[in-house]
Amino acid sequence: METEVIQIDEHNIDEASKKSLQRAGQIIRDGGLVAFPTETVYGLGGDALNPDSSRKIYAAKGRPSDNPLIVHVADFEDLETIVKEVPDSARKLAKAFWPGPLTMIMNKNDRVPYETTGGLDTVAIRMPNNEIALELIRQSGGFIAAPSANTSGRPSPTVARYCIEDLSGKIEMILDGGQVGIGLESTIVDLTSDVPMILRPGYITLDMLKEILGEVEVDRTIIDSNSGAKPKAPGMKYRHYAPKGQLTIIQGEQSKVVEYINRKAKEAAAEGKKVGVIGTDATKALYDADVIKSVGNRQDERTIAHELFKVLREFDDENIDVMFSESFDDSGIGQAIMNRLLKAAGHNVIIL
Ligand code: TXA
Ligand code: MG
Repeated sequence: METEVIQIDEHNIDEASKKSLQRAGQIIRDGGLVAFPTETVYGLGGDALNPDSSRKIYAAKGRPSDNPLIVHVADFEDLETIVKEVPDSARKLAKAFWPGPLTMIMNKNDRVPYETTGGLDTVAIRMPNNEIALELIRQSGGFIAAPSANTSGRPSPTVARYCIEDLSGKIEMILDGGQVGIGLESTIVDLTSDVPMILRPGYITLDMLKEILGEVEVDRTIIDSNSGAKPKAPGMKYRHYAPKGQLTIIQGEQSKVVEYINRKAKEAAAEGKKVGVIGTDATKALYDADVIKSVGNRQDERTIAHELFKVLREFDDENIDVMFSESFDDSGIGQAIMNRLLKAAGHNVIIL
């Protein structure tokens, strides 16, 4: 299959872009797949109410079919037509955070096929904050099932280039809307339990949810990698976000971290390995290795969220064998950053 790539400027959707979005919507209505930008990461979209489309999504990603998909809507009223009932908490959260990087889990009704929910009776729903995504959803009939647009296991794409790398030849169309704003996938909150529970941390933090709902819990498996418990979001159990080379996170006082990484980088280089370092704006100049990248500025962790997946992908582009990364504070949005970084490193952490 030939994959068409179309560029659209989210902030200037002209007539030609509208026509492209109509065509993209028709592809999805006809059971085809279109990758598109959201504010978090690129999504691989198909008709959420068509079981064949969901099967195609799993096939294109190489994803296990017990790992449910998120249904994307553009209008709150549409949500009401695919769930058993809309909890009060969902109305409050939608008012506060939609469109935006928050996914809510509710009990599904019969309109949503089990192919989309990985066999579960619940469905994950979100309204993305991106004009290209919202228009595509409307043009597609209102419900787009979309996992991140990467081959299963690889870092989620935050630029179209990596959707093209993973999905070219496997899907009908890719909409290139430039680099996404946030860079990490949405926060997932389960509203079917007595107390709402965060199943995947993201840009919407625990404190932000508590402010709206009062009591909110966090799935223990997110915080404690050794708990042995099964994550409640099926996707969280899989190896994820992994670059091709081996990544180790080094935690400790800054000067010690720099010294340790430089020493290890030298050793690895002596063994003929190509070495990459993930530093920050403040430390980048202190390292000595084949490829050194700053992932952002610690004073504004949003910059780190924005760059993390892209940096991991760039190390793959440069065939890096061994990578070392600084560690980050795990409060607020740092919880999402560390959740992804730890997974990318297979929980390989050195504490100095
Ligand atoms: O930001 C995002 O959420 C992106 C963009 C494209 O919207 N999407 C995304 O989808 O990250 P995906 O498929 O890569 O991750 C969805 C996660 C998986 O861990 C999955 O197991 C979980 O959501 N999930 C989906 N439906 C669920 C359900 N009914 N119950 C529990 N977990 C669910
Ligand atoms: Mg994903």
